[in-house]
Amino acid sequence: MASYLVTGAAGFIGRSIAAALLARGDSVRGIDNFSTGKRSNLAGLERMDFIVGDLADPVACERACSGVEIVFHEAALASVPRSVADPVATNVACVDATLNLLVAARAAGVRRVVYAGSSSAYGDAPALPKHEGMLPSPISPYAVAKLAGEHYMGAFSRVYGLETVVLRYFNVFGPFQDPMSHYSGVLAIFCRRMLAGEQPTIYGDGEQSRDFTYIENVVQGNLLAAAAPAAKVSGQTMNLATSSRITLNQTFALLAELTGYSGKPAYEPARSGDIRDSLADIRLAGELLGYSPQVDFREGLRRTVEWYRAGGGN
Ligand code: UD1
Repeated sequence: MASYLVTGAAGFIGRSIAAALLARGDSVRGIDNFSTGKRSNLAGLERMDFIVGDLADPVACERACSGVEIVFHEAALASVPRSVADPVATNVACVDATLNLLVAARAAGVRRVVYAGSSSAYGDAPALPKHEGMLPSPISPYAVAKLAGEHYMGAFSRVYGLETVVLRYFNVFGPFQDPMSHYSGVLAIFCRRMLAGEQPTIYGDGEQSRDFTYIENVVQGNLLAAAAPAAKVSGQTMNLATSSRITLNQTFALLAELTGYSGKPAYEPARSGDIRDSLADIRLAGELLGYSPQVDFREGLRRTVEWYRAGGGN
């Protein structure tokens, strides 16, 4: 039986991966510094060996990696506007931390690291869908930092023979995503506000589009990436998404139906560092992992609204 480490285990995606591993009986360690993760996200994960620690600290990385075979590296400061406000903090949490983790993983004899990459690597080039053969062109400090992490994965695979797999996520959403912060994902913020009868804000004209990906699909992709033969996936980078896109205005309309919100959104100027459109080509993950999304956007949104309606995220 493999032994897994999940970084960012008190965060939205990390806790979801840890829950899936525990549910199938695996042995899981988690680490989080609670910078954006929440203690309440650990409910139900009591069998996880949990460490409070910061990956910017090499000693914490060493402790976390000891005895581990496979790492899911989800810890990050996952926000474009946060990186615009404080690029150094984003660099420490996304780049320094990733390098420290890789060094510790190698020293501990970890076999594979699966990395949470970001579609922000593609930047704002108009060509859609985004495929992995396109040249990266990050436009925000956040995108640069996540891309640097990808390159470190590639280098550790080439130079040290560590198995690495990069999964480029596209706007992941679902239960356990924090709706409270100004830096939270848009769907979490909209669900909370609209269920509470509060007006949501759309930055820009609302015609920007995203390939919103329900969390269950991302968990599935990670489990497949951990299990796939090294010859097929090590050193590879692939998109993890649904390959369908929707504008924010359309999303608002859908959420109005699901939540019963009857007002209009407020419109404010577009945020700097924002990309306009995002849509993934997911054929590579299909070929290399056998990945295909199981939950579509509407069903995912319905489940997500129900989770917030039942008090999740408070
Ligand atoms: C998101 C993720 C990022 C990930 C990337 C690709 C978050 C917080 N960010 O970036 O980590 O790497 O997808 O997977 O999960 N918006 C509003 N109103 C709001 C909040 C946002 O109109 O209240 C707009 C934004 O300006 C943007 C869009 O919604 O145009 C999406 O924003 P956001 O949810 O922050 O995600 P991304 O920046 O796309």
